[in-house]
Amino acid sequence: MTTTEDRDVIDLLLAQHEQIKGLFAGIVVADGDRKGDLFNDLVRLLAVHESAEEQVVHPAARSSAGDEVVEARLHEESEAKHALSDLYDLGVEHPEFDARLAMLEKAVVEHATHEEQEEFPRLRQELSAERLRRMAGAVRAAEAISPTRPHPGAGESATVNMLAGPPVAVFDKIRDAVRDWRQSNKD
Ligand SMILES: [Fe+2]
Ligand SMILES: [Fe+2]
Repeated sequence: MTTTEDRDVIDLLLAQHEQIKGLFAGIVVADGDRKGDLFNDLVRLLAVHESAEEQVVHPAARSSAGDEVVEARLHEESEAKHALSDLYDLGVEHPEFDARLAMLEKAVVEHATHEEQEEFPRLRQELSAERLRRMAGAVRAAEAISPTRPHPGAGESATVNMLAGPPVAVFDKIRDAVRDWRQSNKD
């Protein structure tokens, strides 16, 4: 039986790509408080996801995929963080929110596709299974601060509400946690 503990960093990140797409789809059809909750879930999930990639995946991809590829991904992640901040300031009730969220969705999906085509396959090829499993610890360290998996039986919000507030603060807090993890672990 495969348990979550057996999954390597790529498995976890691929699953999160799907979860991210699902949240975008959920936000547009939601309204009121639920829409706000789902948007906060998206902020936390993207913060967890991109922090883990920034701290362990992109650095490892530099030697296999090249600096140019990695710099392009980091730039996209930073743009997405700013777009999330703008959406947060705008608020889910704003008439322009949906159109701007759709633009962010397009950018985030393209970003994920680039990673899936240009980085993940190379890491799978070049790093040992053991190292990829160890790198999954970065995702778990981020999730320890802000759980992103739906908890069984929790109908309303997709995640446990532990961290809310401006996206930049959420991203910083989660990035610090992953950085601490990386400093006490080799990857
Ligand atoms: Fe990313
Ligand atoms: Fe990603």
